[in-house]
Amino acid sequence: MFDFQYFAPTRVVFGRGVEARTGQLIRELGVSRVLIHYGGQSAVRSGLLNRVAASLDEAGIAHIELGGVVPNPRLAKVREGALLARQFGAELVLAVGGGSVIDSSKAIAYSLAEPEEDVWDLYARKRKPRGCLPVACVLTIAAAGSEMSNSSVITNEETGEKRGYRSDLCRPKLAIMNPELTVTLPAYQTAAGCTDILMHTLERYFTQGGNMELTDQIAEGLMRTVMKNALILRDHPSDYDARAEVMWASSLSHNDLTGLGADGMDFVSHGLEHELGGMFDVTHGAGLSAVWPSWARYVCRDCLPRFVKFARNVMEVEPGRSDEETALRGISALEDFFRSIHMPVTLKELGVEPTEDQILAMAASCAKGAGGKKGTAKLLYEADMAEIYRLAR
Ligand code: NZQ
Ligand code: ZN
Repeated sequence: MFDFQYFAPTRVVFGRGVEARTGQLIRELGVSRVLIHYGGQSAVRSGLLNRVAASLDEAGIAHIELGGVVPNPRLAKVREGALLARQFGAELVLAVGGGSVIDSSKAIAYSLAEPEEDVWDLYARKRKPRGCLPVACVLTIAAAGSEMSNSSVITNEETGEKRGYRSDLCRPKLAIMNPELTVTLPAYQTAAGCTDILMHTLERYFTQGGNMELTDQIAEGLMRTVMKNALILRDHPSDYDARAEVMWASSLSHNDLTGLGADGMDFVSHGLEHELGGMFDVTHGAGLSAVWPSWARYVCRDCLPRFVKFARNVMEVEPGRSDEETALRGISALEDFFRSIHMPVTLKELGVEPTEDQILAMAASCAKGAGGKKGTAKLLYEADMAEIYRLAR
């Protein structure tokens, strides 16, 4: 097991109706002025936004609201939010929504801590942040794990770049998580969310690391739990327990727990998806399932012990005549699972047919964003990334 540091500073308040306590919980953070940030119409339609605002009023917390965050959240909205929050004197950004809203909130919170700097410089790796205002969230979709993660992902609509930035400074102080709030999700978003949750642990699982018995068992248990409950939600979308299992998995899958002691994280599939998101504005989880099988078949021979372990312990396949055959059976089994929850397993199924020039552009941008190379299962370069896009067509 490699040395590690684990930092999970988020207070999680989980269960039915917990959003009614938002005001009191934010009060306990010593905050009295808040920007409420939200997305399109879902939180308005469900009445959640009004309930959260009423809870803040009850606790005597002044607030201002800014909606309009779109999936693959845009830099222009971050700039708008930062200006508004600064004029209002916000001391905390409260995200009411999913990963996109939380990530936009994190970017606003970075901007507020350093108003003289351009926040995009963080995502462009030009500087490091010195601070970040506190962020809290009322989570409405189990997926990205941003409610406990140190990451935020923003799309610069002027350049078409979708870039993530990681720093412990932006980990939310408070995550209010009521699984009931996710019942209104369209089936496609529920399935894409489950895919993303699964992927956050998969990205940490395929390493060249040595013995990580406990971490591996947590990771394998999480992946089995997500797949089991994703199938329950496909057939019974209102099942509270399945919603709850998936929501908790969302947080644990991306707060670093499932990769502790590994020799790093792979995250090539995420890198490839971010380019698809930047160029074609696809749903994040669906973009991941569309590239993962091609990535896995491309790298598995270089990371065979982990792919065999995955095939046996997670996908529970019959062993093949060789380790390679077992590994390939595991990959096919996960591909079948994606199909069973109606997630795409090729770019065509995702609705995207990139030209060769677009493939080369995405591979170049992906490699550049990663400093030239990326991957723990197998270190990949620009040419490898282009080849995986081709295989995924
Ligand atoms: O905008 P509204 O109307 O709220 O609709 C949203 C949106 O269309 C809808 N939705 C959310 N909660 C709902 C609901 N509809 C009905 N009922 C509800 N309760 O769902 C759609 C997707 O929302 P979004 O916030 O985009 O989903 P998700 O949580 O999957 O976030 C995706 C973004 O997070 C980034 C992705 O790249 C993508 O930009 N990621 C962030 C990470 C992080 N910060 O740690 C890690 C991830 O790997 C990921 O990259
Ligand atoms: Zn993700």
